[in-house]
Amino acid sequence: MHIDQAARLREIVKAANSSKMGSPIVTEEMHAKIYAVTSGKGGVGKTNIAVNLAIALARKGKKVTLVDLDLGLANIDIMLKLTAPYNLEHLMLGHKEIEDIVIKGPEGISIVPGGSGLPSLTALNISQQEFFLNNFYKLTKNNDFLIFDTAAGISDNVIRFTLAADEIIVVTTEEPTAITDAYALMKVLSLRSKESNINIVFNMIKSPHDAHRYFEKIHAVVKQFLGIEIYNLGYVVHDPCVSKAIMRREPFITQYPFCAASKSIKEIGKELLLKAAHKTTLKRTLVQKFSSLFSW
Ligand SMILES: Nc1ncnc2c1ncn2[C@@H]1O[C@H](COP(=O)(O)OP(=O)(O)O)[C@@H](O)[C@H]1O
Ligand SMILES: [Mg+2]
Repeated sequence: MHIDQAARLREIVKAANSSKMGSPIVTEEMHAKIYAVTSGKGGVGKTNIAVNLAIALARKGKKVTLVDLDLGLANIDIMLKLTAPYNLEHLMLGHKEIEDIVIKGPEGISIVPGGSGLPSLTALNISQQEFFLNNFYKLTKNNDFLIFDTAAGISDNVIRFTLAADEIIVVTTEEPTAITDAYALMKVLSLRSKESNINIVFNMIKSPHDAHRYFEKIHAVVKQFLGIEIYNLGYVVHDPCVSKAIMRREPFITQYPFCAASKSIKEIGKELLLKAAHKTTLKRTLVQKFSSLFSW
């Protein structure tokens, strides 16, 4: 049962922390790579990027689960014209198990619905965050990718879920306000963990040349003032097919496979797979993840 599992993990973490050698005593490895799609400013295109990227990866034969973590204002099910009988609130209240709330999405992806208009989910305490993460980690066993679509900003929920991911995708537009907020978010993330792998995606780009220039600028500032490296995962052009698809409640990559935004997403998918294949990151065990996440 989920409560038992959380308790067990806590015990494992405690034991690992107090282990004299300082090395993990359990080797429960995760299979799926977790990506968190996040942003400083709201409305920059996280959900659209998360949904369409999930489909792009599924088309490459990957098993993908999208987790709607814009808690309280989740809307992936609405965006995709899906009916979600249960959501994360049912999981939190102990009425359902994680497997029971997952629904089938388009093109073979799976979705964990977040639930909308649920204030109980907006300010989770540490044990609730831990409980959710424990459940999400369960999903890593039979997936290749888990994609967290988070809320915007630097709330404790967002930061903790984002840092639980193997890779972070910070979405921003070219507007100075969005870039400033992206920087603020990266500052908080880097202060909490030096291990975070941050990737940038510029969205609603008017000219691809600019996207590269914007990245170079933010890369230099982040390196100088935050002392971390960030990675350019690509850009998505500003394209009317995005809002047309939203109105039809379909992913743009499905509805308009050859539009410029779909091409951008396919490029990002390719880049992500390339990076995932070449990156020799040390696979962290569940224990290591939990220890670092809940030690602040
Ligand atoms: N590449 C794009 N081109 C044109 N419009 C876009 C693009 N990406 C997002 N949008 C617009 O921005 C709005 C917000 O996108 P959404 O994915 O819901 O953002 P977030 O999840 O960050 O709040 C969408 O409703 C859509 O109209
Ligand atoms: Mg969103």
